[in-house]
Amino acid sequence: MDFGEIAGRGLVLLGCGKMGGAMLEGWLARGLDPGSVWIIDPKPADWLTNAGVNLNATLPERPAFVVLAVKPQMMGEAIGQIAPLGGSRDTVFLSIAAGTTIASFEAVLGGETPIIRAMPNTPAAVGRGITALVGNARVSAENLAMAETLLSAVGQTVRLDDEGQMDAVTAVSGSGPAYVFHLIETLAAAGETEGLPADLALKLARATVAGAGALAEASDDGPGQLRINVTSPNGTTQAALEVLMDETSGFPALLPKAVKAAADRSRELGK
Ligand SMILES: NC(=O)c1ccc[n+]([C@@H]2O[C@H](COP(=O)([O-])OP(=O)(O)OC[C@H]3O[C@@H](n4cnc5c(N)ncnc54)[C@H](OP(=O)(O)O)[C@@H]3O)[C@@H](O)[C@H]2O)c1
Repeated sequence: MDFGEIAGRGLVLLGCGKMGGAMLEGWLARGLDPGSVWIIDPKPADWLTNAGVNLNATLPERPAFVVLAVKPQMMGEAIGQIAPLGGSRDTVFLSIAAGTTIASFEAVLGGETPIIRAMPNTPAAVGRGITALVGNARVSAENLAMAETLLSAVGQTVRLDDEGQMDAVTAVSGSGPAYVFHLIETLAAAGETEGLPADLALKLARATVAGAGALAEASDDGPGQLRINVTSPNGTTQAALEVLMDETSGFPALLPKAVKAAADRSRELGK
């Protein structure tokens, strides 16, 4: 992977927890020299000590990228440590903090600073995430391309036309893995109710969701066609889908409500 100017000028990672750590692992596995990474984290994970990275060391003056990966509620305090790196077009800031707007970063870093806001999701931990990203007016095409390179270490990327779409993205792909985890839980519980032992029901539910997801991603058919393909007239699947597809009590009624609740909350948090 070509890390461009990062190889020479360096990358600063603020916060190296679950998401920052997953990204760092991906970058190092793809050939980024650990010597060009500076990490700021008050309690770094053990593996970082021997990873060859610069750990809580003096920062380079003009790093190519600063990646912000602390929790949103810690951001206000944490960003003070790297705010002096803002204010020029030389250093690009890439934030993965949920609900934290570009405007709030511009207020601290200055309006001249190139700032990219990204929203990853938890399957990033296994390299299967999807991250949406959008930049402010100072971000160049090259800056965005490099941000995509960095984020592609943990999965797919998509670009947004404007930051206003981030609330809906958060509600679909950001929070979405939790909806699917709950689907696994309730499918397993329903299997138990129908007489299966708990561990068997969970194994069936987990593999079914994972396998169906992999098939939906790999197939040329859309999800609607895949559903039709497994639904014989008056068969077992149809009996279940009549419940799940009910316009007033099934997924078509429930999911829009759930996604709206998440998007509304995201808008509220971004204020
Ligand atoms: N996890 C996800 O699925 C997901 C999805 C989308 C977006 N995100 C975003 O990713 C960001 C990181 O989430 P995460 O799940 O990786 O959280 P996390 O595991 O808690 O990682 C945050 C890291 O930042 C460190 N930290 C705390 N205060 C700091 C400071 N002042 N300076 C430097 N580092 C500091 C934390 O150290 P301590 O542990 O010692 O506090 C921790 O190692 C969040 O903004 C979140 O919104 C996460």
